[in-house]
Amino acid sequence: MELHRIKCSIFLGLSIFFAFSACLASAAIHHHNFVIRPTPVKRLCNTHDIMTVNGQFPGPTLEVRNGDTVIIKATNAGKYNITLHWHGMRQMRTPWADGPEFVTQCPIRPGGTYTYRFTIEDQEGTLWWHAHSKWMRATVYGALVIYPKLGSSYPFPKPAREYPIILGEWWNRDPMQVLQQATMTGAGANVSDAYTINAQPGDLYPCSGQVFPVKTGETILLRIINAALNQQLFFSIANHQMTVVEADASYTKPFTTNVVMIGPGQTTNVLITANQPSGRYYMAATAYSSAPGVPFANTTTTAILEYNTRNSARPILPRLPPWNDTNTANSFTSQFRSISKVDVPLQIDDNLFFTVNLGPPVQFDYTGNVSRGLWTPMTGTKLYKLKFGSHVQVVLQNTNIFTIEDHPMHLHGYHFYVVGTGKGNFDPKTDPAKFNLVDPPFRNTVGTTPGGVWLMHCHLDVHIGWGLAMVFLVENGVGKLQSLEPPPPDLPQC
Ligand SMILES: *[C@@H]1O[C@H](CO)[C@@H](O)[C@H](O)[C@H]1NC(C)=O
Ligand SMILES: *[C@@H]1O[C@H](CO)[C@@H](O)[C@H](O)[C@H]1NC(C)=O
Ligand SMILES: *[C@@H]1O[C@H](CO)[C@@H](O)[C@H](O)[C@H]1NC(C)=O
Ligand SMILES: *[C@@H]1O[C@H](CO)[C@@H](O)[C@H](O)[C@H]1NC(C)=O
Ligand SMILES: *[C@@H]1O[C@H](CO)[C@@H](O)[C@H](O)[C@H]1NC(C)=O
Repeated sequence: MELHRIKCSIFLGLSIFFAFSACLASAAIHHHNFVIRPTPVKRLCNTHDIMTVNGQFPGPTLEVRNGDTVIIKATNAGKYNITLHWHGMRQMRTPWADGPEFVTQCPIRPGGTYTYRFTIEDQEGTLWWHAHSKWMRATVYGALVIYPKLGSSYPFPKPAREYPIILGEWWNRDPMQVLQQATMTGAGANVSDAYTINAQPGDLYPCSGQVFPVKTGETILLRIINAALNQQLFFSIANHQMTVVEADASYTKPFTTNVVMIGPGQTTNVLITANQPSGRYYMAATAYSSAPGVPFANTTTTAILEYNTRNSARPILPRLPPWNDTNTANSFTSQFRSISKVDVPLQIDDNLFFTVNLGPPVQFDYTGNVSRGLWTPMTGTKLYKLKFGSHVQVVLQNTNIFTIEDHPMHLHGYHFYVVGTGKGNFDPKTDPAKFNLVDPPFRNTVGTTPGGVWLMHCHLDVHIGWGLAMVFLVENGVGKLQSLEPPPPDLPQC
């Protein structure tokens, strides 16, 4: 079995803050029908049947406000099992709507239906939704935009216009067949044939191209979402600086950058001002690959930012970092701060240390020269039980098995503060002194998701099949508002 090679020398200090918040805003209820069905689409000059929602690729953008309730009736009119996940949604009391197949629900089988119901509580910004069963999310995904409540506004001037910029990956083959072949051989899955922006490869490829209009002087908001299956990406716009204002539906202290590095699952909102000579400027995304020797798709997707009127001027390409530019990736990531001071819980109830990688759960020099005897993974179902309201610190220790590789870890149902990252082995004596307990990134309001089973996994889908996942089982607290709702009657059965 040839496995993806992973070394890594990064640890994340994560602190998950559980506190109770009862938000009872009366607000809109959005009803949608999502019919998941095969649809012919033409990409790279060939027509393929792919799974879509309502025939749209990317799928429909959900536009809601903080406090609204969303009710989506999903109908599976395709041949594969499917579930849907509302990525980043906290799902207060409604884990039944979270979506990971065989974790919080059985899949919706071909011909079946299931209605996802959830309320947005104290969240605003850019999230997204996607299938959470096998590799169905390769084509079944869309943006989920949460506007502030009526009467409140962004913590920055209202942009003249907004565009979701969903980065994805396109395979000429059925992604489910690509996965099936990789599972059979045990090798890494074939890399994609193109990266995409809003499901279009762009005009560096044949039969594609896409234009985003802008007017001179405007400031616009780009809601960048990395929906790629297996690849971290660099994103740039020729001659335009970007100001990062939000990530993962959490406002950040603004900072300017020429390049965004975004991992699968993540979202990053940037403002850009059309302050350049009228013309056409490419926005472009290409691979950031943290793992030397691991194959990746070495291609570039583009779309055109076009000033004022349609014209045919040759667009200018941005300078994108080389695929292995870890310094640029890390210096971008290190700039994230919460918009204001936050209350990081200092009293820790559960202090957890996880190695993130292949190999058995034993102590070794994680980032040293790992003996081959430790390379063999162990199978198992890993679950950790937490009490309602507990304060949890999780240290994620990457290891030096095979090669270095970043793992964009995604925790369902919760947000967490990233209080520290670093190279080498985590040192519980000296490293906590370096934690940012003032304005660590990736959190806005904190609230509790009472009860439920919450998946934590690597958002490189190629790693999920290899088992890079575990779940937290959170017990109920006291009373109705601290307990999960009963499962809905239409919850699919296995
Ligand atoms: C994967 O790539 C190999 C080599 O290019 C090719 O022979 C094979 O058909 C591909 N398989 C799939 C499922 O795309
Ligand atoms: C990626 O493609 C570029 C341009 O075609 C080429 O110069 C570079 O060597 C390639 N890198 C890798 C790692 O394949
Ligand atoms: C990136 O890879 C190129 C070869 O493709 C190599 O020459 C260069 O030294 C590498 N850069 C880093 C920072 O590892
Ligand atoms: C790692 O250990 C193996 C076996 O102990 C040895 O053959 C190899 O040279 C070591 N590699 C490094 C980079 O130290
Ligand atoms: C589809 O889901 C059912 C459980 O509802 C399961 O028994 C079956 O194996 C799944 N099919 C595939 C192809 O995974």
